Amino acid sequence: MSMAADFGVTLTQHVLRKQSGHPDARGQFSQLLTQIGVAGKLISAQVRRAGLIELWGETGELNVQGEHVQRLDRIANDTFVEVLRRSGCVALMASEEEDDLVHVPEPMRGDYVVAFDPLDGSSNIDVNVSIGTIFAIYRRTDPETVSMADILRPGREQVAAGYIVYGSSTALVYSDGQTVDCFTLDPSCGEYFLTRENMRIPKASNVLSINECNEPYWPKWVGPYLAGIKARNDDAGRKVTSRHIGSLVADFHRNLVKGGVFLYPTEARTGRGKLRVLYECNPLAFIAEVAGGAATNGLTRILDLVPTGLHDRTGLVIGGIDEVERARECLDLYGV
Ligand code: AHG
Ligand code: MN
Ligand code: MN
Repeated sequence: MSMAADFGVTLTQHVLRKQSGHPDARGQFSQLLTQIGVAGKLISAQVRRAGLIELWGETGELNVQGEHVQRLDRIANDTFVEVLRRSGCVALMASEEEDDLVHVPEPMRGDYVVAFDPLDGSSNIDVNVSIGTIFAIYRRTDPETVSMADILRPGREQVAAGYIVYGSSTALVYSDGQTVDCFTLDPSCGEYFLTRENMRIPKASNVLSINECNEPYWPKWVGPYLAGIKARNDDAGRKVTSRHIGSLVADFHRNLVKGGVFLYPTEARTGRGKLRVLYECNPLAFIAEVAGGAATNGLTRILDLVPTGLHDRTGLVIGGIDEVERARECLDLYGV
């Protein structure tokens, strides 16, 4: 008689189990997810030790977007690039911390194209607050060549997307377009175990996440939109609360679990957003939609945007479907 296993389903087991339904699966996708998990473990280990081994602070460089590069940004980027390069599953990469495309030379070239934000939430690195890695996965379009066109695609063409959040525990969330599943890293054995299966963003939205100090820059519709949410709190009781970490990935994760809406609207004067389409908005929008939520920049569904550059930015409203729909209604009513 065998004893029932008293340990959970690992990330790799879960991916393989889901892939076994696809007769054309060649194992490369499972391998890619596993290797992204490995990169997440390596970055997590560095994040956990950052204060001890002088990994805090800036490198002194500015990235292509004119932002100060933190030491951990650089380490996370180099780790992700190198793990994916060696994986044999990836042909092309785009990263927040790389000006241009990163090509994988033959013979290590694989079927997939990956865009990523190696470390999201830079302002929180040195103060022990949750940060994360965000990734978007596409299948390359041509078996012979790879080009910019493989990455400048609308987000709806993603085959999978996910993130790893380095929070009170390290959690990896990914979606293959069918379900959204969450795995928690058990540091005692270095393995990810399935902890939330088929996540659905709750319909009731109790949380509002926005940097309110940006009010002077908001388009016209944002004020009335927020007022509408806050007005739900009345003498009968408190229905909504405000939570804003300043790490998109951690704000999104909380809202996915608990229900909520996150906004980083475009700036009224310039019409430009802050968050990047390819490696911040697209992967999270993909996950939100699979979980029953939605994401828009107000005018366009995020997954329908056609990027023109690797580091394009847009406005973002992401969360429960009703809240996102209300944002679009407010935009129609009050304008930009
Ligand atoms: P990154 O650290 O990758 O540059 O991204 C930071 C982003 C996002 O995580 C966060 O929601 C937003 O910047 C915060 O910006 P503000 O400080 O302008 O609110
Ligand atoms: Mn980011
Ligand atoms: Mn970043």
